[in-house]
Amino acid sequence: RLVIPSPDLQRRQYRGYWFPEWHLSALAAARDHFEPMPTDIFLVSCPKSGTTWLKSLAFATVHRDVHPPSSREHPLLHKNPHGCVRFIHAIYRQPVDVTRGILEAYPSPRIFGTHFPLSLLPERINGDGCGCRIVYICRDPKDVVVSWWWFMRTYLPNPEQVRFEEVFDLFCEGRTGAGPYWRHALEHWEESRRRPGKVLFLRYEEMLLDPQCNLRRLAEFLGCAFSEAEEKAGVLDAILELCSLDKLKKLEVNQSGNKIKDGDEPMMNHSFFRKGESGDWINHMTAEMAARLDAIVEHALQGTGFRFGIAT
Ligand code: A3P
Repeated sequence: RLVIPSPDLQRRQYRGYWFPEWHLSALAAARDHFEPMPTDIFLVSCPKSGTTWLKSLAFATVHRDVHPPSSREHPLLHKNPHGCVRFIHAIYRQPVDVTRGILEAYPSPRIFGTHFPLSLLPERINGDGCGCRIVYICRDPKDVVVSWWWFMRTYLPNPEQVRFEEVFDLFCEGRTGAGPYWRHALEHWEESRRRPGKVLFLRYEEMLLDPQCNLRRLAEFLGCAFSEAEEKAGVLDAILELCSLDKLKKLEVNQSGNKIKDGDEPMMNHSFFRKGESGDWINHMTAEMAARLDAIVEHALQGTGFRFGIAT
């Protein structure tokens, strides 16, 4: 059985989803203490779906007046995207006074990342009453599991020991972070159709295919659409360039192996950037494995109208 790299990654099932134990304690703290603001933005995803990209794009878009994307001082050039947009579970893992300090210093409008699905978030955030907006990103599960495997390997002293087949089995059982993956995505797809003003549903593959269009959608949804003048001045393209995998991956801060503190869990900056392609699963999965995962997903999504990949 797979040796899970850190005791922090031991998972427990909670209301149908698998989370590391410490995420659940942080969720309990957030439920008790988090005070949302109507302008808050929550970026929701399962790990390895394009969270880092979405965080960068949302941060650069929302704060473009204060931080022009072409500025040499732009925070994304000097900080890992997970340092610019923090995870709610990481913030609420800290002692109360540290959490308070982080939130007091947080730039407004506030953008948070979370792997908790909407159904687990407090009603204060999830409900229609507050103005908080939710952006979800999903990706082909076959690419997600490959990305997971690479990610885990970067944290192990002896990466060769982790066989892809083992991670694949865990993923198929729905037991990797915030899984089952298909259930997580389906919940948000349904919410985005029920409450389009509250939840925006993005797809990694569509973002790769047409980044301009998807960035416009994101900005409009967040209430900060690009003006004609901005488009002409190349602001949108400058944001895409700043947030591109190529650009972020080459930055010293994201190469040096400096660790960001994700709660108390040290994460290596470089581990969030790899290939950023669609369809890499073909290089790792046998036809049988692909068919097995496809069948699990198809069964779970039967009758819902939701499919992964480019929307038809
Ligand atoms: P791969 O491992 O397939 O390359 P997350 O941010 O949710 O952890 O997802 C990580 C995946 O997103 C990795 O996929 C990573 O390479 C990709 N990624 C990270 N930053 C990106 C960016 N700026 N643009 C596109 N993909 C990005």
